[in-house]
Amino acid sequence: MRKLFACVLGVALAGALGSMASPAQAASAVYQAENATLSQASVATNHTGYTGTGFVDYVNTTGGYIQWTVDAASAGPATLTFRYANGTTADRPMTITVNGTSVGSTSYPATANWDTWADASVPVTLTAGANTIRATATTTTGGPNVDKLTVVTPDPGGPSMAVAPYEYLGWGNPQSPTSVMTATGVKWFTLAFMLSDGTCNPKWDGDRALTGGSDQAAINSIRAAGGDVVISFGGWSGNKLGEKCSSASALAGAYQKVINAYNLKVIDIDIEDTEFSTASVRQRVVDALKIVKTNNPGIKTIITMGTTPSGPDSTGADLINRGAAAGLDNDVWTIMPFDFGGHTGTMGAATVSAMEGLKAKVKSAYGYSDAVAYTRIGLSSMNGKTDEADETVTTADFQTMLSYAQQHHIGRLTFWSINRDRACGSGSDADSCSGVSQSAYAYTKIFVQYTG
Ligand code: GCU
Ligand code: CA
Repeated sequence: MRKLFACVLGVALAGALGSMASPAQAASAVYQAENATLSQASVATNHTGYTGTGFVDYVNTTGGYIQWTVDAASAGPATLTFRYANGTTADRPMTITVNGTSVGSTSYPATANWDTWADASVPVTLTAGANTIRATATTTTGGPNVDKLTVVTPDPGGPSMAVAPYEYLGWGNPQSPTSVMTATGVKWFTLAFMLSDGTCNPKWDGDRALTGGSDQAAINSIRAAGGDVVISFGGWSGNKLGEKCSSASALAGAYQKVINAYNLKVIDIDIEDTEFSTASVRQRVVDALKIVKTNNPGIKTIITMGTTPSGPDSTGADLINRGAAAGLDNDVWTIMPFDFGGHTGTMGAATVSAMEGLKAKVKSAYGYSDAVAYTRIGLSSMNGKTDEADETVTTADFQTMLSYAQQHHIGRLTFWSINRDRACGSGSDADSCSGVSQSAYAYTKIFVQYTG
């Protein structure tokens, strides 16, 4: 396997993914109406479009109900969504109760005909364990036909999307992502790197296809285990899409292929080397991300770059200013606080001073308050020995960074990399171990404590 991205010289290739003060992953469970407890209602199949083995038809009278037992992992808010059909022209209201307490009357308006289904949602609070949900008809026409109940519950705490350590699956002896999840509790990964295949076309490490291979299988396995991924474009080595795509719209198109292939919620542009140092390319990246933001409502973008111990250098500052001037609502500006080419004090202290410098630049460029500016910045450290002989990032440094993140609610707390979060064996391959004495995942286990 070609080693495409070792951190070289002054700029790390670390990407980071971060945090993004965003909601954690939600869980969703489906409960069919035909499997529920019924009163003055019966299972039917005489209309099309239902899921499961049928739907429930209420008798045309008040008081009939469907009752489900719903399990919640913990107490807290949930959204109940009822899939129903109403082939009449009048509403078929019902009262919803949770554990005997009414959450009020809910409306089930007409759906064109009895074969046409619609969703009606109601926010509720569930208790931990079994909950009794009852939907009772309140008018003499009875309830609508009901196909199923879907219960969506937010993740009960746990690591946020802001914590998404970098892992590279094509090199550096990668651990299986689901084993990392089990061992550390981490849920999000930043997967590196998406590159140009030599043209304005994205491939993993520049040569593995987006779909159908081991990368897609890994992403599926992460999601099946309740996690998700940020995909990182760039890094230090290889062909960069920002340079191989000749216009902002072409570059946005390349990003879009990856977003579509995986239904991504977040992308990271780890902008390094000549993609970073060339002003016209910096502008192209900013303009392309603006297009991506417009075409994918709700998507989050991260820009990750090198830094000095006092914050972004003049090139980094220029990139932030270009973002602000273009009206790019970038979610997290991330720095890689290592490979400084000289620093004083601990790496934890140097990271904090670099972050304060970043905060000041983002705040002034965008006119944010301090509080908002902190949520728009992030850090991507490098565990253990970096590429420079005078730098070792210790677990104590990671604790310093965690405290800083918790104090200011920064948008991203990540590092390069999962692959390196273990002691070296007899060798010292910098891509697959930290170069310091440590237990497996000692660094990941610190950052995973961050909840946004
Ligand atoms: C029709 C329809 C039923 C429906 C009923 C009603 O009979 O076929 O599916 O439940 O109307 O008005 O409730
Ligand atoms: Ca009916």
